[in-house]
Amino acid sequence: MDRVRGQVAVITGGASGIGLASAQLLAAEGAAVVIGDLTHEDASRAAAQITADGGRAIGVAVDVMEEESLAALIDTAVAEFGRLDVMCNHVGGSNPRKDLDVLGLDMDEFDRVMRLNVRSTVLGCRLAIPHMIEAGGGSIINTASVGGLAGDFIQVAYGSAKAAVIRMTEYVATQYGHQRIRCNAIAPGAVMTPALADNLPAEMIRGIRTHNALPYLGEPEDVADLMLFLASPESRYITGQVIAIDGGMTSHHPLAETRRPDAGS
Ligand SMILES: NC(=O)c1ccc[n+]([C@@H]2O[C@H](COP(=O)([O-])OP(=O)(O)OC[C@H]3O[C@@H](n4cnc5c(N)ncnc54)[C@H](O)[C@@H]3O)[C@@H](O)[C@H]2O)c1
Repeated sequence: MDRVRGQVAVITGGASGIGLASAQLLAAEGAAVVIGDLTHEDASRAAAQITADGGRAIGVAVDVMEEESLAALIDTAVAEFGRLDVMCNHVGGSNPRKDLDVLGLDMDEFDRVMRLNVRSTVLGCRLAIPHMIEAGGGSIINTASVGGLAGDFIQVAYGSAKAAVIRMTEYVATQYGHQRIRCNAIAPGAVMTPALADNLPAEMIRGIRTHNALPYLGEPEDVADLMLFLASPESRYITGQVIAIDGGMTSHHPLAETRRPDAGS
């Protein structure tokens, strides 16, 4: 119940999916949580759920594509709760209909994806770090993806953006470690958020189950556990790392599947 007691955490994209599960868990473990999401209605609904369960949370409308909006989110967190200890730069994504291979890629989508995933994360770090220095340290958690760890036939913009998030995480860890600010990235594989469950074709889900080391897909709560660990002092000696949470999607080389003892049976 007390793993992040007394800490103040901001999470962008906290009104649904992995972000919501993480906000709920951080609050259950004692943090005051500021949920930023696109609409005030969604962010406040998520915060109200947490307060109904006895936690401390507020919801704030934010568009992470806009610096002023992100700055207002951080300012609100500090004004409301007095400090900032944990910053989860969680919003990201791309439109899979426009984010294709290099030749098929829509370049306007490429620019949007870089802004949504990379620029917003740089800004989230820039805006949080001065408050963390004032507080004597902090933990920044950037949401990447397995798409940022290796190449694929689709989503070149998304993968490139998440790779940039991973490398930038190392720079922030390097540059602000002596101020006791830790910065880590998480790289989820397939996690059954409502958005993914609605959009992923059944044969793709079957393919993931077959290829992954583990025979099941992840749930938002699985990723929330990792988010909590990285926010809490339990991870005080971990910084500049990317941690894949992917059921073993990236644990083996691509030909391993062909050598599975029961392959073809
Ligand atoms: N679900 C997965 O399988 C998976 C896998 C790898 C990485 N991720 C990453 O996890 C993060 C969130 O994914 P999710 O599956 O929880 O998504 P989700 O769609 O369930 O939630 C995303 C939230 O972000 C909000 N949002 C979108 N654009 C925003 C903006 N400009 N400003 C503020 N809020 C905005 C949405 O309203 C929504 O509430 C993303 O960075 C995504 O790339 C997810």
